[in-house]
Amino acid sequence: MNIWDNLKKPILALAPMEGVTDIVFRQVISKASRPDLFFTEFTNVSSFASEKGRHDALSRLKISPSDSPIIAQIWGKNPEHFSELSSALKNLGFSGIDLNFGCPDRHVNRAGGGAAMIKTPDLAVECVRRAKNSSNGLPISVKTRLGFTYLEEYKTWLPTILSEHPSALTVHLRTRKEMSKVPAHFELIPEIIKLRNEFSPETKLLINGDIKNRAEALKLYQKHPEIDGFMIGRGVFENPFCFKRTEDNLPYAPTKEELFALLNYHLDVFDQNSPQPYEPLKHFFKVYVKDFPGASELRTKMMECKNTNELREIINSYS
Ligand SMILES: Cc1cc2nc3c(=O)[nH]c(=O)nc-3n(C[C@H](O)[C@H](O)[C@H](O)COP(=O)(O)O)c2cc1C
Repeated sequence: MNIWDNLKKPILALAPMEGVTDIVFRQVISKASRPDLFFTEFTNVSSFASEKGRHDALSRLKISPSDSPIIAQIWGKNPEHFSELSSALKNLGFSGIDLNFGCPDRHVNRAGGGAAMIKTPDLAVECVRRAKNSSNGLPISVKTRLGFTYLEEYKTWLPTILSEHPSALTVHLRTRKEMSKVPAHFELIPEIIKLRNEFSPETKLLINGDIKNRAEALKLYQKHPEIDGFMIGRGVFENPFCFKRTEDNLPYAPTKEELFALLNYHLDVFDQNSPQPYEPLKHFFKVYVKDFPGASELRTKMMECKNTNELREIINSYS
């Protein structure tokens, strides 16, 4: 069974986000409104291949029952290590393997991974092939950008990847150089669809970048019905209920009470999955505590808390 053939169009996926889409936050998003598909944060293939890094790699690949179906996202530049990690993922409960050829992080790119793969297309192809040959039947997908430096790179880069016939290709509509500083290039969607249709019509095409919620994805889908799906990333910070269906197809607007209940749930799931570092939890406060009188003061008090029990006390005294 190939998960990509089982999902109904348009597929809505939560984008992989390092430090965000871990086992805790995925459960929170499931509770608010589940996307059709989850991705893990990216895991380095060479960490998994090393004795020292394997424990950390495996902890990033921990999943909960509510995550399913979920795809493991992996990155690196060593084809042998792509093979090694790909061969382990089926037994860990994943429905697919996604190769990250789009991360713009300087350290990742210096190590030859993420978007740097756009500059070494032969190596990228080798990694796709090695992953495919070792995946025990799990489908392989790729997430990438339009190019490294220049927009026009997409004209050769996307065909290079499509010629390997991945089960799915997610295109973040920017170059690496553009980071996230310019608006996504929605104007190129018809060209990208054309390339998919020409080089690998069976590959599912997902579009990513600046799509905030289900309503926006549906609007794009109406305009380009040949797209198979959409990935939403930062939209969950604005609205963790962004995947929720509504009768009028307008974005779902959660109440303050719903956001507080979700925050309490986040703290519960965080505790259930402890021990884990407390500080990163603070990044999420503004997802839930905003847009009401006193929100900023409450957030300041929350920032001073040292653990989830202190947080609960402060939050419950407000709600
Ligand atoms: C905090 C953060 C972490 C990210 N980590 C990853 C990652 O691990 N793998 C990946 O493919 N993309 C990663 N991305 C990129 C997102 O998946 C997505 O492509 C990008 O945010 C554009 O989509 P959006 O406009 O819907 O946010 C990350 C983005 C953010 C903001």
